[in-house]
Amino acid sequence: MTSTEQHRRKYDALAERYEEIYFYVADLGRELVSRAAPPPGTRLLDVGAGRGAVARVGLARGCTVTAVDASAGMVARLAADHRDMLVLQQDAGALRFPDGSFDLVTAGFLVQVLAEPEMALAEFHRVLVPDGMVALSLERQVVGRLGWLHDLNREYFGGGSGAPLSPDRLDELLVAAGFDEPERTMVKVPRHLPDPAALWDWLALQGVPEALDDLPSPHAVTFRERFFRGAEDMHRNGGITLEFAATLHTTTRP
Ligand SMILES: C[S@@+](CC[C@H](N)C(=O)[O-])C[C@H]1O[C@@H](n2cnc3c(N)ncnc32)[C@H](O)[C@@H]1O
Repeated sequence: MTSTEQHRRKYDALAERYEEIYFYVADLGRELVSRAAPPPGTRLLDVGAGRGAVARVGLARGCTVTAVDASAGMVARLAADHRDMLVLQQDAGALRFPDGSFDLVTAGFLVQVLAEPEMALAEFHRVLVPDGMVALSLERQVVGRLGWLHDLNREYFGGGSGAPLSPDRLDELLVAAGFDEPERTMVKVPRHLPDPAALWDWLALQGVPEALDDLPSPHAVTFRERFFRGAEDMHRNGGITLEFAATLHTTTRP
């Protein structure tokens, strides 16, 4: 299976509960569109739209919104939720729109999941009018006091693949794609959880119990024990807070 196909399946499976699990994307969608500040009537293309965290804010501001996503599951849910936007299944690296079709291209948390973000950035440049704007968000890993949980996950489930796309690298890629020097800002979205059980519930939303079922039996038990020890400790010493952060990058096509 290709990595694109794997991505499609992952997001198809997540489509139903995507914004429940990733609760911060709605706030960051609002932040991203507010930075771009599109006037009513702006032709906005939202790429990797997911469940519409960015696209629906554009719609509320009076933009004419086209949303695309590679996942059929996301496209079906978004189209059902928003009959007032055009929703299409397309690949960010091979958009099927004529040159200069849009005034604003947005992409919330997309570039970080692409194997070749340069291809998508070249497409964003191509479909924008001169002076058109691109607004992208990039997730930042904030480990902070949750380092123990990151370590536990890595020990049981292995590490992620490759180094994540950095904000500096994204700005370099934007300039290489022909955009002006980007502006960048950092946004943080913390969420306090009342107790260790709430942290477990949050992991459960992400399928951790099912993943544990696939491990040999003593591992599932020891993971749970070590998880609750770590979570109790964090709860007693300052409380449990999930911290998410993103950089928002905006620039124009000369
Ligand atoms: C992390 S989610 C972000 C969703 C949404 N933009 C948000 O801010 O909540 C990434 C989205 O990009 C989509 N995606 C992944 N690879 C893609 C590609 N090559 N072309 C278009 N969409 C893609 C996924 O299906 C998923 O919906």
